Amino acid sequence: LRDKYLGLIAGASDESGLEDIRVQAVGKKGEVSLKMRELGKMTPDERKEAGPKLNALKDEINSALSAKKEALADAALDERLRAEWLDVTLPSRPRRQGTIHPVSQVTEEVTAIFADMGFTVAEGPQIETDWHNFDALNIPWHHSSREEMDTFYMHRAEGDERPPHVLRTHTSPVQIRAMLGQGAPLRVIAPGRVYRADYDQTHTPMFHQVEGLAVDRDISMANLKWVLEEFVRAYFEVDDVELRFRASHFPFTEPSAEVDIRCSWEGGQLKVGEGDDWLEILGSGMVHPKVLQAGGIDPDQWQGFAFGMGIDRIAMLKYGIPDLRAFFDSDLRWLRHYGFRA
Ligand code: PHE
Repeated sequence: LRDKYLGLIAGASDESGLEDIRVQAVGKKGEVSLKMRELGKMTPDERKEAGPKLNALKDEINSALSAKKEALADAALDERLRAEWLDVTLPSRPRRQGTIHPVSQVTEEVTAIFADMGFTVAEGPQIETDWHNFDALNIPWHHSSREEMDTFYMHRAEGDERPPHVLRTHTSPVQIRAMLGQGAPLRVIAPGRVYRADYDQTHTPMFHQVEGLAVDRDISMANLKWVLEEFVRAYFEVDDVELRFRASHFPFTEPSAEVDIRCSWEGGQLKVGEGDDWLEILGSGMVHPKVLQAGGIDPDQWQGFAFGMGIDRIAMLKYGIPDLRAFFDSDLRWLRHYGFRA
């Protein structure tokens, strides 16, 4: 009996096997327990002989069981430590970090520069009413610039005669929303997406603009000029800039000017502030009285200037990015090359 059970215990490979052996040997109906029960039927002499032996056997089996149990637990722990072992000295796997898109980067830069001059950020919807995008900006239904802008019109149900909503063709409708929402005086910029049906190396059907609007008691072209010079200096990180205001026409400003900056191209890289070239960067002007009125502001008491600039365009210029279309291709190689580290 002793050899049988000590042998079984030594051979047990897990705790549940060991428990089976315990029940079989010293459990209530175990082999050793039954033998002990038979002691009652024995003569006193026989009992004196067999009793201590059986007790010793029971003790021996019990201690073999607990020793084995401990050994099995140790082995299980060793196994777990082996399986979960980790070499902390191994070099880590390289992690691919995303980059900040040039449009986001430049939007941040522009916002920060104008924030320093007291401009806050205003927003408007990309699906805009015909009124905000055109009429309120003094662009009547039959005006040529509606056609020039290659507008995307939203579909209206048949029989619905209301003018359709449009995908905003510029950020200028945010001028109207800001004036109606805040009243005068105000100073805002409005960066965002705009849409025109156009596609080539410098045009995509969706692109980005930033609008600027300042309304106060006696705002003049001089304020506009200073703010834009300050901006160009800060954005292109040069001390000397020269701006050229070219007379132009926008229905929502009077007078209107397109603004060029003096520059040169050296080996494809733009240098701002020197050279004999002029680079157009934005449209601007004094806010038309009708536009102030549409914004709920009295043109006899307030004046304002406004400007609109292409974000993608100034990103291409500053960072030497040749093709606008690649901005919106989501090509990871392009994003890694032209993107910015956080
Ligand atoms: N909205 C004009 C455009 O998209 C730019 C502009 C804005 C011009 C504000 C004058 C004043 O071209």
